[in-house]
Amino acid sequence: MPEADAREDRNFQADVPQKSEGFFLKGSNALDWGLKNRLSKIFDPTSGRTVMLAIDHGYFQGPTTGLERVDLDIVPLLPWADTLMCTRGILRSVIPPTYGKGIVIRASGGPSILKDLSNEQIAISIEEAVRLNVAAMAVQVFIGGESETQSVHNLTRLVDMGNSAGIATLAVTAVGRELVRDARYLRLATRICAELGATYVKTYFCDEDFETVTASCPIPIVIAGGKKLPEKEALQMAYDAIQQGASGVDMGRNIFQSEAPAAMIQAVRKVVHENEKPEIAFEYFRDLKNRS
Ligand code: R5P
Repeated sequence: MPEADAREDRNFQADVPQKSEGFFLKGSNALDWGLKNRLSKIFDPTSGRTVMLAIDHGYFQGPTTGLERVDLDIVPLLPWADTLMCTRGILRSVIPPTYGKGIVIRASGGPSILKDLSNEQIAISIEEAVRLNVAAMAVQVFIGGESETQSVHNLTRLVDMGNSAGIATLAVTAVGRELVRDARYLRLATRICAELGATYVKTYFCDEDFETVTASCPIPIVIAGGKKLPEKEALQMAYDAIQQGASGVDMGRNIFQSEAPAAMIQAVRKVVHENEKPEIAFEYFRDLKNRS
């Protein structure tokens, strides 16, 4: 049977080999197309990094300072967030469905700040995650915590669920007050998450040897912002983490509790995506703040 549209002069460029490019994210080359596509909605393919805006704190501590009115105070920041990390309750009730970047949905929960926080369970079904069109599901992993094994099982079950639908799994290394957030602990926690199948890991920055944490973790690491710091210090921390191998930040309080959140998230972007020095980024923050 001859080809219906066959013309004699077609050029198949048989001498040009098909491109076979590696995926831009560390350790992610063997993932499936849908997963890579979703990761490209979290990490900017140009810089290979992300500024995630974390606003999921309410899932265990209620209306956190700065998150009382997500509609008024957070939605205006969305243009500068590569990704929003939130609960499905906030997503459905407040976040405009026109938001076109990645959503990282809080996928674990259970205890409030009044109880042992490590006693979490999976808090979403894969059907719901697909329905919400999320890019990743986030789960706390409490290495050394009271319910360590249960939280690790939450991670591995979510990895299975996520991989079945091409949705990434973000393992969040949650460090209890009794544990020291040094490089030794962070290497242990992040490596366990990677070994057990997480797509990427969120952990804390540490002042000494953080590059050993990123080096020994075969998948991307983003750092948590942690408690509110003066803006210059938060920018310095983000800079140090990026220069030592982090693939981005997942920052909450240091953005939405800033005296000028829109200026702060834009300054963080400078550090993360443009390798801007913290002193310059801080000047940029002050300039934007004064202008607003
Ligand atoms: C806490 O477990 C949540 O995952 C937060 O999203 C996370 O702590 C990041 O927020 P922050 O920068 O305020 O620490």
